[in-house]
Amino acid sequence: MSVIAVIGAQWGDEGKGKIVDLLAEKAKAVVRFSGGDNAGHTVINPYGEFRLHLIPSGIFHPGVICIIGNGVAINPAVLLEEVNEIQKHGVDTSYLLISDRAHLIMPYHILLDGLEEERRGKGALGTTRKGIGPVFADKIARLGLRTCDLLNKKEFYTRLSSILEFKNAIITKIYNAPPLSLKEIYEQYCYYGEKLAPFIKDVGPILHDLIQRKQTILLEGAQGTMLDPDFGTYPYVTSSSPLASGSATGSGISVRQIDQIIGVFKAYTTRVGGGPLPTELKDKIGDFIRERAHEYGATTGRPRRCGWFDAVAGRFSVRVNGFTNIVVTRLDILDALDSVKICTAYKYNGTLLKDFPSDTAILNNCQPVYEELPGWQTETSGIRHAEQLPIQARRYIARVEELLSCPVSIISVGPSRDQAIMVRKVI
Ligand code: IMP
Repeated sequence: MSVIAVIGAQWGDEGKGKIVDLLAEKAKAVVRFSGGDNAGHTVINPYGEFRLHLIPSGIFHPGVICIIGNGVAINPAVLLEEVNEIQKHGVDTSYLLISDRAHLIMPYHILLDGLEEERRGKGALGTTRKGIGPVFADKIARLGLRTCDLLNKKEFYTRLSSILEFKNAIITKIYNAPPLSLKEIYEQYCYYGEKLAPFIKDVGPILHDLIQRKQTILLEGAQGTMLDPDFGTYPYVTSSSPLASGSATGSGISVRQIDQIIGVFKAYTTRVGGGPLPTELKDKIGDFIRERAHEYGATTGRPRRCGWFDAVAGRFSVRVNGFTNIVVTRLDILDALDSVKICTAYKYNGTLLKDFPSDTAILNNCQPVYEELPGWQTETSGIRHAEQLPIQARRYIARVEELLSCPVSIISVGPSRDQAIMVRKVI
């Protein structure tokens, strides 16, 4: 079969969890490849309603190997809680594996994320304060601790002591905050190590073997393209790559092995946290979308900023990821509107921009140019076949496909697994 990457195409929260849960039925493995517990993948299926922060969304399918890849930063406390929670609902976790190369989120990462946001004051990035920036900074600075380190207590103690001495100097001298205790962190992480040891493995050979045997593997993205440190709205971005290219680095699967790259778009746009959002609606329609779709962060509960579909950002996302097909989620949210708009270009200082600019100052000061299409004012949540969609909804989807030059494979019309319209065969 094939390796399929499922990528967030906007600013995150596009509904990747639901799509992975849906496709995982026909997969042999699902790998989370980036981010950490800043992600919150909502999955609603016969087991109940879940917000997964670290465990791959394929976990609900018996026998599907679920891997937390090397590209994910793991907060062990969150992971253990999540394992307990899904076990309580009768979900089998015996196929869960953790890459021995994944980095660990430590208490000083979480503390420093918060202290740094406070220091930024009005210029705060609006991070999830889960320690994401600091853990990935340490990974690159070669100051990180990995899951394999949990399996060697003596070595772990030696490295932790030296790192914590440095971190405590920053915490006390730069931020005037009290230092963290080596003994407490060490004992806490020894406990986590004992609990997580059965899951920690070199997952490379397992994935290689599945590829050799032509099994289907899903690579589950977290966050979205516009939050990528290189191609997102820098500095209002996350700290690991949510892109298709990141799915190879973060899982250890060669780029040559990836057969399909699916971009997941919402039928409109949302963003949580600071940074530019050219199509943001600070009006009744924005509020209507937020309330109807319950657009509040799955991890932090913060209200999400809502706006019209942005085809300028969308085309950029198709280009940097190389999507082979796209999924449009939450089409049903637009059901009640008289008309719907799509942003086709930005206007900046009298110039028409058709390409997504890199400069945040331009993005903050450009005006979206909209195309207005008639709404369908028909409930779509019960529809399962594309030809049954109202003609206006079909025209909306067709226009998105045309503007993005990429075919739509699935349209999602509600949160449950079965509320999906399969337009083209994916698996
Ligand atoms: P961090 O990833 O916690 O450092 O946050 C950096 C930015 O990414 C902030 O604007 C967050 O709101 C945003 N962000 C991080 N994770 C997610 C996510 O899963 N969905 C949507 N936005 C996210």
